[in-house]
Amino acid sequence: MADLVEEAKKKASYAAIDEHVDSSTSVIGIGSGSTVVYCVERLAQRVKDPNSALKIKACVPTSFQSKQLIIEAGLLLADLNAHPVIDVTFDGADEIDESLNLIKGGGGCHLQEKLVAAASKKLVIVADYRKESNALGVQWTKGIPVEVIPMAYVSIQKKIESLGGTSKLRMAAPAKAGPVVTDSGNLILDVFMGILRGDAVLETHLKLIQIPGVVETGLFMDIAGWAYLGLQDGNVKRMA
Ligand code: A5P
Repeated sequence: MADLVEEAKKKASYAAIDEHVDSSTSVIGIGSGSTVVYCVERLAQRVKDPNSALKIKACVPTSFQSKQLIIEAGLLLADLNAHPVIDVTFDGADEIDESLNLIKGGGGCHLQEKLVAAASKKLVIVADYRKESNALGVQWTKGIPVEVIPMAYVSIQKKIESLGGTSKLRMAAPAKAGPVVTDSGNLILDVFMGILRGDAVLETHLKLIQIPGVVETGLFMDIAGWAYLGLQDGNVKRMA
């Protein structure tokens, strides 16, 4: 099972890199999570190929983890302020619906992931077969990740209750006592607002983002142009 999932992540990532990176690609965004590891692996292979025609001048990370991935692969690390226009970003997702709406932030990186995605001409999602769903909240049952300002997390939880939802402060235990602190120094609430279909995705994002102290939600709408899903039979499903 674990091998099947890893193989699916790898096949999806290799296909995505091979179909979206060519000699015209200059700046690449690198998402976070376990699947993009294979994107970086494939990118590094292609860059180091002696016959490579690639001219990549910068890779922009979305987290501490992806920064380390870029450095360890020997790729050129740069930040978003130096490269505010990105040709293509590759990122994972926790759930993907038929319209390419996403839940992201299972790894707590969705704020920087959304900032990099918003600066990208193309966002390509890579995932294994477990992430596909006909609505958000069906496969991913751990709630919508919402990054919040630490001093207001309890009042934000109360506002979420008044909207008919519930939430849990994400804890780091057993790795560490206390809450998960994001790369931007904030906390994460995992928010339960039911299963989201169609317009409900945007409506839920808008309700949450207007609460003072909410920095960003893990609902991504109208931003991913492609998704590559590694399947159990070894094939890759392309969604666009
Ligand atoms: C990070 O916060 C997330 O948005 C990840 O991109 C997402 O959790 C996908 O991770 P995996 O590739 O490990 O499933």
